[in-house]
Amino acid sequence: MTDLTIRSATAGEEDAVVALWQACGLVVAYNDPIADFRFAKNSPCSDILAGLDPAGEIKASVMVGYDGHRGWLYYVAVDPDVRHNGFGRQIIDAAEDWLRQRGVAKAQLMVRDTNTAVVSFYERLGFEVSPRVVMAKWLDERG
Ligand SMILES: CC(C)(COP(=O)(O)OP(=O)(O)OC[C@H]1O[C@@H](n2cnc3c(N)ncnc32)[C@H](O)[C@@H]1OP(=O)(O)O)[C@@H](O)C(=O)NCCC(=O)NCCS
Repeated sequence: MTDLTIRSATAGEEDAVVALWQACGLVVAYNDPIADFRFAKNSPCSDILAGLDPAGEIKASVMVGYDGHRGWLYYVAVDPDVRHNGFGRQIIDAAEDWLRQRGVAKAQLMVRDTNTAVVSFYERLGFEVSPRVVMAKWLDERG
């Protein structure tokens, strides 16, 4: 199995990371992925990790952050051409380490109800479905 080199994505990798998110079907009309990338990169409690193959190509990414209580994962992505090689597990492990290093005890994530097939992936990695009602409200012009 190839080991990815996983590190904080640089500003110059913005286009490559966003292209990966798009290739993975993670970009929806109501989110601006460039703004999401920059907001996470420029906030003290979040980051975007990139996983690079030995050729230096970005094959995986995750947005990770914490809100003062729990850790959250977003934009979990592995290049469709190289799935089932353990890259998803490696990028999630790196995000968990990132949170642990900052004293965060629990990682959480949300799965869209159009994407429930991915639940089995997270279960293989030790996540459990945690029944909650998630409520949300836009605080900007999208509201
Ligand atoms: C989900 C995703 C990140 C998995 O990446 P991957 O590199 O293929 O995953 P891995 O190879 O590391 O697989 C890890 C484990 O999960 C299992 N697995 C991977 N994809 C799976 C799936 N779709 N269903 C069930 N199990 C899955 C693997 O068999 C493996 O199990 P094992 O280690 O016990 O053998 C990738 O399919 C992806 O980018 N999907 C599109 C984006 C997406 O939906 N992201 C999540 C948003 S919530």
